[in-house]
Amino acid sequence: MQNTHTNMETTILSALKIKKIKKSKLDKATLNNRKFGSTFTDHLFICTFKNGKWQKPKIKPYKPLKLEPSARVFHYGQAVFEGMKAYKDNTDQIWLFRPDENQLRINASAKRLAMPEFPKELFFEGLETLLKIERDWIPTEDGNSLYIRPFMIASGKGIFAAPSEEYTFMIICSPSGKYYTKDVQVVIAEYYSRAANGGVGAAKAAGNYGAQFYPTQKAIAQGYDQIIWTDSNHEYLEEAGTMNVFFRINDTLITAPTSERILDGITRKSIIAIAKASGIKVEVRKIKVTEIKEAVKNGTLKEMFGSGTAAVVTPISHFSHQNTDYEIAQVKSRYSDLFKKILTDIQYNKSEDKFGWRYKV
Ligand code: COI
Repeated sequence: MQNTHTNMETTILSALKIKKIKKSKLDKATLNNRKFGSTFTDHLFICTFKNGKWQKPKIKPYKPLKLEPSARVFHYGQAVFEGMKAYKDNTDQIWLFRPDENQLRINASAKRLAMPEFPKELFFEGLETLLKIERDWIPTEDGNSLYIRPFMIASGKGIFAAPSEEYTFMIICSPSGKYYTKDVQVVIAEYYSRAANGGVGAAKAAGNYGAQFYPTQKAIAQGYDQIIWTDSNHEYLEEAGTMNVFFRINDTLITAPTSERILDGITRKSIIAIAKASGIKVEVRKIKVTEIKEAVKNGTLKEMFGSGTAAVVTPISHFSHQNTDYEIAQVKSRYSDLFKKILTDIQYNKSEDKFGWRYKV
């Protein structure tokens, strides 16, 4: 696509209207190792849904929004989002990782929340144009990337408890360092639940995250970082809210099958594929809390780790269940290190991508 008037403040690019800021707020000296999700780039992508259709998309300066106090998102929580990352290689080329999966998933989440789907062409046009404008904001140091947050909210006014008639789809970007800076310690849920059968657990609905804050605060107060959520009987291990979870018993990699309670993680499915391609035995099956307690006691639980876009691959060093703390013995060559290396080498264009996951911007 060509800019028609590159020297002007406002340009029209096909249907996409672009208004650039006059002076970037980028401070290159502090670009790397920024606290995850705490600062945002100069521009955002925005598109509104009105009168039954998506309106002209725009890229404009990042600044506070004007919203009706009665907007449905504030009252009924109609909000969905995605998490993606842009990586820059040593030739300055920008890469995404399996963005088609995020595009499909935000629409699946939107459908579950009775929101309109966002068109694929607009998603990619908006995302790629925004990334090209913000290319200098993409950190290059190891463990750093540009975290991308596409999201959609019900922006229509009115507090009748029904889906909104207006929506706003946006993409914002945040130069970010690691989400977890060390191995994490988790509590296995015994009382609170994240999701239920027939609920919204598989969707990336904002409320799924907000609802975890209170129980997670309690876990943090006890010295843990996260909760591993269990099924409604608190018998089977499901996911950690910010990450899917994996267990290595002897040399077998085990993870719970996705379900209507568990997010279909893109990093999760990539790790399963990497493990299989590396000749590691993988079992995607239900896993009981008692099974890992037994395995830690008899020394067969070799590793536990989480996976996610933000978390990448994060080792879990301890878990707690029924007020007992279990330490996972450290093995020399960890699967988590292997998977993280293979995955990030693909993401940062440091290795061949035999899976076809890398996407050139
Ligand atoms: C992601 O991994 O991108 C997520 O959306 C998780 C979020 C808690 C940061």
